[in-house]
Amino acid sequence: MLDRIRVDYSMTAPFLDDRDWAGAQAGAVRALATLEDGRGPGAAYLGWLRYPETVAGAELEGIEQIAREVREEAEALVVVGIGGSYLGARAVIECFGHAFSHLQAQEGRRRPQVVFAGQNLSSSYLEGLLEALERKSFYVNVISKSGTTTEPGLAFRLLRRILLDRYGREGAARRILSTTDGRKGALRALSEREGYRTFVIPDDIGGRYSVLTPVGLLPMAVAGVPPEEVLAGARSMIAPCAVKELLQNPAALYAAGRDLLWRKGYHTEILVAYDPRLQSFAEWWKQLFGESEGKEGKGIFPASAVFTTDLHSLGQWIQEGPRTIFETLLHVEDEAGSLRVPEDPDARDELEYLAGRAWTDIQQQAAAGTRLAHHQGGVPVFSLEVPRLSPYHLGQLIYFFEKACGISGTLLGVNPFDQPGVEAYKQNVFALLGKPGTEQAAAQLAALMRAVPKGKVV
Ligand code: PA5
Repeated sequence: MLDRIRVDYSMTAPFLDDRDWAGAQAGAVRALATLEDGRGPGAAYLGWLRYPETVAGAELEGIEQIAREVREEAEALVVVGIGGSYLGARAVIECFGHAFSHLQAQEGRRRPQVVFAGQNLSSSYLEGLLEALERKSFYVNVISKSGTTTEPGLAFRLLRRILLDRYGREGAARRILSTTDGRKGALRALSEREGYRTFVIPDDIGGRYSVLTPVGLLPMAVAGVPPEEVLAGARSMIAPCAVKELLQNPAALYAAGRDLLWRKGYHTEILVAYDPRLQSFAEWWKQLFGESEGKEGKGIFPASAVFTTDLHSLGQWIQEGPRTIFETLLHVEDEAGSLRVPEDPDARDELEYLAGRAWTDIQQQAAAGTRLAHHQGGVPVFSLEVPRLSPYHLGQLIYFFEKACGISGTLLGVNPFDQPGVEAYKQNVFALLGKPGTEQAAAQLAALMRAVPKGKVV
């Protein structure tokens, strides 16, 4: 049997019909070729296409070796990064972590725990983290391609200071691992000056396509998720996602389907998972598609939901709200878990008919029933059939989505590898904080603020 993820597009009909798919073939194959041949916009950032095959063995050994050291010596690894420099690692680690590790006895825990910082500017978040780290031995993996991003830069300052105070310069340097550009940037310069052990983010791989580089692989390895298995999964998708036939290439098919739906007015996509451990995976996916496609007034809005939880909050809207949404369901075929419903005739809760049934079976039926209901209610549904939630299959999913995103952005006519819109907020924040050189922008902002009508507060 085929041990790879597959795209079931049967429930995109009748919203998409055979004529739509036939009409999409030529454009999708052209977009695929444009992307692969590096003829599209952002062609300098295609390193991720082949990285799972080309990554050097020595690089992987280096990652494993340091991960072993961190596992032996530390109780926590603080991963400092934002956007593409943290979402991928978090997505993978949370898929295989224990949802209740904070309740487990200390001795039952897998050491060390991987925690995250630098992905927000919240003082209370960082204070909580510092409190938790007070009597813990920890390492820091600071990740920033540019080396100049404010949020991780500030968090790293704080953590570096603590390590310097605790262990001195040499001891701190041993506990700081940096993942950054190979040649330039403030973090590269600091790492070289201080002698931090450093991993390189390849020049030709942008942040949100970097989870399968040291950006994601080192934190994964520390958390006990084998990088080689994740990469093997990714590698196994390279050939299927390169086939020049729309209906035989899962990434091209999904990309073309999204494009068709977008053109028919379906402007929001909801990535649905039934396993709550996939919640962070959805966050990674949202960034991948949101930052790659949302530009020039175009792009599907990427949303996510965890069912059945969100069926009791968003379910009503999905079933009967404006018909501008479609769903992409992550359907794990062989779900983990062996729980069965206990017998309890005294409960009189009208659930006795389920006694003895496996929880996984109940969930599968819930997923089937929900998919049908939403489809009947006017929601096109893609179903991604994932054989198992394993590191190998997660690697497949990551590569599949990255490839689909590249094709989809090319079909949309945007550059899927830049993010010019992210600059607007940054420039305003710099000006408001008084960064040297932003005086003119600060004056313009002050004028804009003065022009905002006052007193409209209730
Ligand atoms: O996808 C991207 O390029 C961004 O999300 C970046 O990863 C994010 O802005 C962090 O940038 P950096 O790694 O330079 O700190």
